[in-house]
Amino acid sequence: MGAYLEIKNLQVNVEIIEGCKRVLDIDHFCVEKGETFGIVGESGAGKSILAQSILGILPYPPAIIENGTIFFQGKDLLQLNGKKMQSDIRGKKISMIFQDPMSSLNPVFRVGDQIRNVIKKHNRNMSRDELDNEVLEKLRMVKLPDVENTKNKYPNELSGGQRQRIIIAIALSCGAELLIADEPTRNLDVTIQAGVLKLLFGLKKKLGITTLFIANNINLVFIVSQKVGVLYKGKIIEMGTAQEIKNNPHHPYTLDLLGISHNENKEKVIPVKNKSLTKEWENQYTLCPYINQCPFSVDQCFQSQPPVVKVNSNHVVSCFRDFMEMERR
Ligand SMILES: Nc1ncnc2c1ncn2[C@@H]1O[C@H](COP(=O)(O)OP(=O)(O)OP(=O)(O)O)[C@@H](O)[C@H]1O
Ligand code: SF4
Ligand SMILES: [Mg+2]
Repeated sequence: MGAYLEIKNLQVNVEIIEGCKRVLDIDHFCVEKGETFGIVGESGAGKSILAQSILGILPYPPAIIENGTIFFQGKDLLQLNGKKMQSDIRGKKISMIFQDPMSSLNPVFRVGDQIRNVIKKHNRNMSRDELDNEVLEKLRMVKLPDVENTKNKYPNELSGGQRQRIIIAIALSCGAELLIADEPTRNLDVTIQAGVLKLLFGLKKKLGITTLFIANNINLVFIVSQKVGVLYKGKIIEMGTAQEIKNNPHHPYTLDLLGISHNENKEKVIPVKNKSLTKEWENQYTLCPYINQCPFSVDQCFQSQPPVVKVNSNHVVSCFRDFMEMERR
């Protein structure tokens, strides 16, 4: 049997005034049932585009899926039509928590009614009383105080942390098995973040939900994830178990993210000087995405894309430095 969620050769472009820009170019990654897979990358790396591609909510246009497969429980989601995605997948099997709670809550409806609508959509036979009880149960599940009162509030009457708890309640209301959490605590104070994450991962464990956790803070991703993929300019440049990437990072960009001086980690490579990129190189999708920033580029980096190198059974990296080291061995 294949992986629970498996993405292969996924390429997404967006149309911009100047033409077409590739924003996602993922070779391969899979998420196993029950685990938390963390995707980390800076702003603009393509994290939300990835999440939207899986859930089938990319804005067409400007986004276009050029190529690829997204297999979930053996079905290629990219082959399902909009109606099928809506009826069989979104909410029912895969839920998402967005980075901005206000974008997913309707400001003119009470939060209790918004939870109720989602439950009702997936449980058509529930009586009125059963629905009322279910709403209160969900509010208790996300540890909101005074649930009878809270259910009657509008989103703007709640704090950011409380709103994010409502979003979690909605996301987990229909029994989805895969949760995509796209920077769920990005706009919250650090103190509130910890509480929301604790709640989210407590529920994840209790309900046995598989999670794709997306964030721009690598240390946060290490805390909550079993496996990590580092996304840079739409490409996964390093991937492995959280422990491996934390203790044995290889890619120069990952080292940067971790604030590790390049020299501390590797000595052998001699930086190439005065090799500035031409515009054509910048616009090609055939070279390493980190080439403009990398202090260690070698001749090969200017000729083709770095191959994926297996560091060990729990770790892969896409870099010529590792490729050369592997060749030398
Ligand atoms: N609707 C759009 N129109 C044009 N370009 C877009 C659109 N949505 C995303 N992009 C581009 O795609 C790239 C990836 O965007 P994405 O929103 O996935 O980044 P992100 O990693 O989620 O960033 P952030 O951490 O800021 O949320 C960016 O270069 C962005 O400018
Ligand atoms: S492939 Fe080359 S440019 Fe890219 S990170 Fe490795 S050494 Fe640097
Ligand atoms: Mg985003």
